[in-house]
Amino acid sequence: MNSRRKFFRQLGGSSVLLAGSGAVLAATPRETREHLIDIFQPRSANDNINLALIGAGIIGHFDLNCALKVPGTKVVAVADLYDQRLVRAKEVWGPDIQTTRDYREILKRPDVDAVLICVPDHWHDRISIDALQAGKHVYCEKPMVHKIGEGLAVIAAHKKSGKVFQVGSQRASASAVLEAKRRYEAGDIGELTSVETFLDRTDALGAWQYTMPPNVDQKEIDWATYLGDAPKRPFQPERFFRWRNYKDYGTGVAGDLFVHLITGLHTITESTGPTRIFALGDLNYWKDGRDAYDLVTAIMDYPKTDKHASFQFTTRVNLAAGSGGSIHTRLVGTEGVIDIGWNEFTMNKLKRPNAPMYSTGYDALFTYPKAVQEQFVQQYDQKYPSAQFTRQIVNEPAVEYKAPQGYDDRLDHMIVFFNAIRQNNPGLVREDAVFGLRAAAPSLACNLSAEQRKVINWNPVTMKVV
Ligand SMILES: NC(=O)c1ccc[n+]([C@@H]2O[C@H](COP(=O)([O-])OP(=O)(O)OC[C@H]3O[C@@H](n4cnc5c(N)ncnc54)[C@H](O)[C@@H]3O)[C@@H](O)[C@H]2O)c1
Repeated sequence: MNSRRKFFRQLGGSSVLLAGSGAVLAATPRETREHLIDIFQPRSANDNINLALIGAGIIGHFDLNCALKVPGTKVVAVADLYDQRLVRAKEVWGPDIQTTRDYREILKRPDVDAVLICVPDHWHDRISIDALQAGKHVYCEKPMVHKIGEGLAVIAAHKKSGKVFQVGSQRASASAVLEAKRRYEAGDIGELTSVETFLDRTDALGAWQYTMPPNVDQKEIDWATYLGDAPKRPFQPERFFRWRNYKDYGTGVAGDLFVHLITGLHTITESTGPTRIFALGDLNYWKDGRDAYDLVTAIMDYPKTDKHASFQFTTRVNLAAGSGGSIHTRLVGTEGVIDIGWNEFTMNKLKRPNAPMYSTGYDALFTYPKAVQEQFVQQYDQKYPSAQFTRQIVNEPAVEYKAPQGYDDRLDHMIVFFNAIRQNNPGLVREDAVFGLRAAAPSLACNLSAEQRKVINWNPVTMKVV
């Protein structure tokens, strides 16, 4: 499996790179580095940040293992609703950790400093609010909320708590995104006019058909708690182990994956978000009982702000793409484009002529009589002498950026989180609750638009559907 494909798998449907609390170093291609953001080191050997994981599924393992790479972090507890995942937690992180089905037991522990919330989307708001109210720092996986209307309560809880809160879309800390941001802010591609993104997948794992344990015993799962604020229904293993495929618990390809693309876009442009959102949704291929779409295409209208010109944004996720899958963000400016993948980008720039253009090829000139053509050229040469004027577009050499070998944007994102905790400065986090809602809401609005077959109007400043 090539590393890019492996990366997509690891995302389980997502990913990103982030700054905020440290310097991003220039990456030298071929250099090996796992992170580029400087770590704010613990003050002593005992200066530990005690962590608890809530939700020990796929990304819970990735996030916690990543967090534990940051010096001065220690895991003390894990909560999960499936007993076998608690058994596995002790296998992986040691027999001394506390394991429980009830995350509230963890929140009661005064020695827990921070929680990683890695549960399905419909539980994000409740557990985030409970954790902030219990005085914990929170790293909550994306999208920040399951429903747009849940977002303001999370923002309020965050503001009231004074704690560090970071949403887990690592694109806010990804080196390729931050370096593209630097280029964009330097004006290298001129004025932004449009942004095109997609994140396509091909295989069954990319389409969220994750492996289920053989012989699932319902007694080992707290199904009633799992349902939470979702409609009550009898136990169905797919709805627990492949929850993304059901709207009651997941947010579909739009909530799950557009949110990464929009997080990257907002990181680069510092936009607050679009005002009009329209999307089409279809279920074409993965008809395995799911009620979520496997193809969503959206168009959004980003109005002018003091940070950027107005631009149009188009995006798509196709889980049944015969392409093999890939991720792409193209920022189109008046003077160039930046094409961003996960950990690399290419920038192509051009210089426009300062004289008007004409051509003896595809232009109207040849359609005029010879004498008129000659008269035109003579007048043109007089008015725009070539010594003073440029007459053609000139392409500049492409600029390539590649993150170092072994680079992990998730680790940089974790470093930002822990740096903010260690420096007691929640403001060091770019992807806080406000950012989280501004990235999640347009993504979730795509589901509303596709279902209701209408444009959704969103106020990105007040963060309300209009
Ligand atoms: N940032 C990324 O790159 C990235 C990648 C994948 C997933 N995610 C996000 O991570 C979250 C988890 O995804 P996943 O793929 O790991 O799912 P998963 O199904 O593998 O794991 C979720 C775990 O949460 C547990 N759980 C459910 N409700 C709970 C509750 N109330 N209390 C305690 N535990 C509970 C389940 O038992 C399960 O073990 C999702 O929000 C997803 O969008 C982010």
